[in-house]
Amino acid sequence: MTNTTKNKETQVIGIASGKGGVGKTTFAVNLATYHALKGKRVLIFDADIGLGNIHIALRNKLNGNMVDVLEGRREIQDILIESETGISIISGGNGLDEILALNNDNTNNIIRAFAALEDQFDVMIVDISAGANQSVLSFLSACHHQIVIGTNEPSSVADAYALIKLIHLTMGLSEIIFVPNKVKTAQEGKVLFKKMNTITAKFLGVALKFIGSVSESSDYSLAWNTGQAAVSIGVSTTCYHDFSAIVDELDKLTANHKKNELQFFNSMK
Ligand SMILES: Nc1ncnc2c1ncn2[C@@H]1O[C@H](COP(=O)(O)OP(=O)(O)OP(=O)(O)O)[C@@H](O)[C@H]1O
Ligand SMILES: [Mg+2]
Repeated sequence: MTNTTKNKETQVIGIASGKGGVGKTTFAVNLATYHALKGKRVLIFDADIGLGNIHIALRNKLNGNMVDVLEGRREIQDILIESETGISIISGGNGLDEILALNNDNTNNIIRAFAALEDQFDVMIVDISAGANQSVLSFLSACHHQIVIGTNEPSSVADAYALIKLIHLTMGLSEIIFVPNKVKTAQEGKVLFKKMNTITAKFLGVALKFIGSVSESSDYSLAWNTGQAAVSIGVSTTCYHDFSAIVDELDKLTANHKKNELQFFNSMK
């Protein structure tokens, strides 16, 4: 609990991807753990409704989810669980009922419910479902920073482009971050970023933001298998180095606040 200033507003970072399985949850857990190692109060909202697995990654048992909150069975504080590393987790729900409950009103009510946790966290990381449906776009739009994760596979590049196009068209956002994942070298990360940026600039007029890339490492799956995050292994690892550089860059960015639109911790009615 060092480095924290009381009443400083929560920085909300949304993690999305066009294609599934490209590394969103791995990125979310490591970004959260890196912040926790630095003494920040961190919350992960597992918004991958239906398939949420953050609690499994961090070996926690759930105590209800956001659908219980929406339906009045629980208060949001009651469904907060804490990992061994001190990260708080909220589940959006991981069953069919939750997917069925996810209409536009419910998505907005979920976003509004976070107002009850105002001032309790320095950083909130939102792990969002793959793809670009309405709830994905609403959750992303409710964040202060939007990160799209992608790999160098052609299907990931095509799906990342499709998602960025929808983010741009529906939210009119100009500062979308693209983070290359599973790259062999930092240079490969820069090349993949440039490739995405060239396509989005040419067809959408959108300049993507570069904050670094994440190298491929077996540490991610090794750590996952023991309920940890790779950045906890040690400060001399590639994983720690990559996330340290990414957080340095993220901290330089200005939060994308939208005064007249619903966002996490902005309790518009
Ligand atoms: N940088 C990396 N190096 C090596 N393996 C990685 C890396 N990032 C992610 N992985 C591995 O890729 C697989 C998919 O990762 P993850 O579950 O984080 O993806 P996801 O985008 O959250 O998937 P989903 O769309 O299903 O939620 C996991 O086995 C994970 O360990
Ligand atoms: Mg995931």
